[in-house]
Amino acid sequence: MRYSILCLLLLLLSCAEEQKQDRQTDEETGTSMYKESHRPQFHFSPDENWMNDPNGLVYHDGVYHLFYQYYPEDIVWGPMHWGHAVSKDLLHWEHKPVSLYPDELGYIFSGSAVYDKDNTSGLGTADNPPLVAVFTYHDPEKEKTGSNDHQTQGIAYSVDGGESWEKYEGNPVIGNEGIRDFRDPKVFWHDETEKWIMLLVAGDRLMIYNSDDLISWNFLSEFGKDRGAHGGVWECPDLFPLKVEPSGETKWVLLISINPGGPNGGSATQYFVGDFDGTAFTSEQQDIKWVDHGADNYAGVTYNHTPDGKRIFIGWMSNWNYAQKTPTQPWRSAMTLPRELSLERPADTYLLKGNPVDNLSDLYKDDGRNIPGPVSDTLVNINGALFDLRFSTTSDHLRFALVNDQNERMVFEFDRSRKEFLIDRSQSGNADFDEQFAQTPHSMPMPVLQDTTEIRLVSDWSSVELFIDGGRFMMTEQMFPNVPFSDLRVESGEIHDLRINLINRIWGDE
Ligand code: FRU
Repeated sequence: MRYSILCLLLLLLSCAEEQKQDRQTDEETGTSMYKESHRPQFHFSPDENWMNDPNGLVYHDGVYHLFYQYYPEDIVWGPMHWGHAVSKDLLHWEHKPVSLYPDELGYIFSGSAVYDKDNTSGLGTADNPPLVAVFTYHDPEKEKTGSNDHQTQGIAYSVDGGESWEKYEGNPVIGNEGIRDFRDPKVFWHDETEKWIMLLVAGDRLMIYNSDDLISWNFLSEFGKDRGAHGGVWECPDLFPLKVEPSGETKWVLLISINPGGPNGGSATQYFVGDFDGTAFTSEQQDIKWVDHGADNYAGVTYNHTPDGKRIFIGWMSNWNYAQKTPTQPWRSAMTLPRELSLERPADTYLLKGNPVDNLSDLYKDDGRNIPGPVSDTLVNINGALFDLRFSTTSDHLRFALVNDQNERMVFEFDRSRKEFLIDRSQSGNADFDEQFAQTPHSMPMPVLQDTTEIRLVSDWSSVELFIDGGRFMMTEQMFPNVPFSDLRVESGEIHDLRINLINRIWGDE
């Protein structure tokens, strides 16, 4: 017995040693240099340990705050905290101390944050209004007893611009009358009714509340019990207006993440286009629409109070099917690039578009390279491992791959007549850590096509984000090549106007 404990200890020690070797840290701060295998180089990932959903996305006083579901003790999910990072440009992030810790009411699950500029909550002063975070308390002890009232809603406030947080002493602000899954409050200010609106999900539906002061909430309406996809529990709602191109009318977009039940297995986010009058959300939409058809864009929500009115979205770049097993250490998971959302009605259908924020180009290494083409049956050396590729195609069938010299490949296929795009990551490197991860191809229907199809691929060491036709169609996928991909091989069909921009890393030195 003693002997086996000793062996276990030795094993743990050698693992820790391996981790240390992999992990180069900054001498002054002790934080990672972000040079470990598979470490995202221009996407946000925590310094170490487990992360899931983005939370509390709020812009205030020149700063974009990114809070996130965080377990600071391990690289698998555990008692949830809110981790915190800030950015001035949505690209470079600075880590901040953990903002919210579990307490006697439970773990701190997902939620949102607002700037209460008129101090409606009274939690700040007229001269120094507070930031207010709204989150779900998940009580694991109550859950164990089998009761269904273990998720309630709480608030916390900051009067120093998000540096430090106090929990409201009257928590919870919304109790639970026995709804098993009752969580993920998204709060925003509704101009027309001059009220705070809160969205909550309750298993298979959305519930809408309003409030004058962020503390006392009135139930207004619900949506969705018999609408949209219901292959899993509804999570992480969001609701916002967008102007439709080209008509200019305003429509509201409701985001609902579901897990499982995504179009390519596991977690995914669906959307509904409709109207919101301050009381109820209504939609005529009959079909199921997905924000992103890749396997790795979940729990995405948008910023409150952006300075330019842009609707900026960040998603968690993973999937509950295998999130806890991805081959990375000492951290797990990254966020998608921040994406600007817009809404278009090209034919008889609304399409939610997403594109990386414009200033991604500030990270470009230089002016880039243009290859007019046509390029077919060729290996193009990208000359770098972090890149933004753009090209167009008129081919009926196009197959291309990101490849490296280890024979690893991430394969992309576009079939014009089938109106379909496929990604196959089964040979993309380390893909066998989980059966469901390798189970590809993943497919995306493309109901609206133009004669020329514009393809954009933004690739970091362990992710690729695909944007087609100006962001009408998106796929986000993790991949774990042992050596980053740095070549593009066009295998079937041809491409034109290839533009290659190499991207600088955002962490530490060059
Ligand atoms: C979504 C989710 C949320 C919940 C959080 C817990 O990924 O399940 O519904 O609040 O993660 O970490």
